[in-house]
Amino acid sequence: MKGLFTPPCLLLFLLLLLLLLLPVSSATTFWAKEKPNIVLMMVDDLGIGDLGCYGNNTISTPHIDRLAQIGVRLTQHLAAAPLCTPSRAAFLTGRYPVRSGMVGLGRVGAYIFSASSGGLPSNEVTFAKLAQGQGYNTALIGKWHLGLNCERAGDHCHHPANHGFDLFYGTPMTHLRDCIAGHGSVFAQVWPYVRYVVAASFWTAVLCFACLPAPFGGWRVGLGLLLIGAAAAGLYLVFDHLIGALNCVLMRDQQVVEKPYVSEDLTARMTWEAVDFMERNSGKPFLLFLSFLQVHTALFATPTLRESGPHGIYGDAVREVDWAVGFVVDTLERLNLRGNTLVYLTSDQGAHLEEVSDQGEVHHGSNGVYKAGKSTNWEGGIRVPGILSLPGLLPRGRVVDQPTSHMDLLPTLTALMGAPLPYDRSDPARWMIG
Ligand SMILES: *[C@@H]1O[C@H](CO)[C@@H](O)[C@H](O)[C@H]1NC(C)=O
Repeated sequence: MKGLFTPPCLLLFLLLLLLLLLPVSSATTFWAKEKPNIVLMMVDDLGIGDLGCYGNNTISTPHIDRLAQIGVRLTQHLAAAPLCTPSRAAFLTGRYPVRSGMVGLGRVGAYIFSASSGGLPSNEVTFAKLAQGQGYNTALIGKWHLGLNCERAGDHCHHPANHGFDLFYGTPMTHLRDCIAGHGSVFAQVWPYVRYVVAASFWTAVLCFACLPAPFGGWRVGLGLLLIGAAAAGLYLVFDHLIGALNCVLMRDQQVVEKPYVSEDLTARMTWEAVDFMERNSGKPFLLFLSFLQVHTALFATPTLRESGPHGIYGDAVREVDWAVGFVVDTLERLNLRGNTLVYLTSDQGAHLEEVSDQGEVHHGSNGVYKAGKSTNWEGGIRVPGILSLPGLLPRGRVVDQPTSHMDLLPTLTALMGAPLPYDRSDPARWMIG
């Protein structure tokens, strides 16, 4: 027993301890010498084939292409799901959407009402929460789409503020067809059935009143049927007129500030907000998640960028996103932060090729060589652009053909920020750079 405490033994023990600690401490402090700022940009429904740097020669995206030129372009970058809600849950948490329960068992796999009672569980660890733990100031500007309330309107239990974002300026929901008058409705497929119910109850009621003797119907049944028809018609009218007002809302932190929001200049306003956030935080590390509403339907673009290009308003919307990316990167340069800021750009899933509105308007978008698009389980649904740029650390113009995923972002960011990975999770995460 005494032999264990002799000086050589103790020395050996200390050495072993040092060796054990070495890899851990080097992994967590290697990047942490100077914490890099983080700017993550996610476009909605943008196809991998829509960008110049991925081979598109008819939409001009000079700012995004430049980002790829000075950084790394991922050619096999994958979303965890071909639909917004699950894909975004996975992106933020680094875990498959099924782990947080953010998947739909039925046909609808995303939230379609801001009043839905579900959302990203509060025990999930997002990269924003980890960033806060490292002293970062964090902001989500733009689309959230991961739930809002639990029990009551206004309890905001799923609000971005509860998932690590100090600032939220954006939409709790997604952009919808119903958000712009004249662009149809996401519920368009349901309306024919409602019309059948209205028509069927009306005509059977007439039949009951007119020809059927009392035992088979009579006025009571007729009246009942008329009431069912009237209720269905009322529901249709209420839904058709209120969906936009109730779901297309813009929030600043916990307050609704615009209802329904005006979309035309919304990307510009969000970009200004992003610029303002970066300016205010230029002296300390920040994480900005700029989550575009474009290029989801109903398609929109600011009037100053509208042109009669070959891809109509879709092309204009992509160019507006490109403008915003350029503005953000220019701001980083102006603030002298570019060298120490990771800039990342992706899309939440493939372009929505299969979507056609009830007026026959197609969504457009190109998923390159991949088959089909958003909300299908073909490759085109999950292939997304992935561009990373961090001048001091990442090589210029590197093209990476290894498969990478949205879910690699969280472990990559933790490495950059010097944050510990949430090791209590059941599925191990891995690094994307390193
Ligand atoms: C460029 O994008 C447009 C719009 O999505 C698409 O129609 C076109 O096919 C794309 N071009 C290429 C070469 O992928």
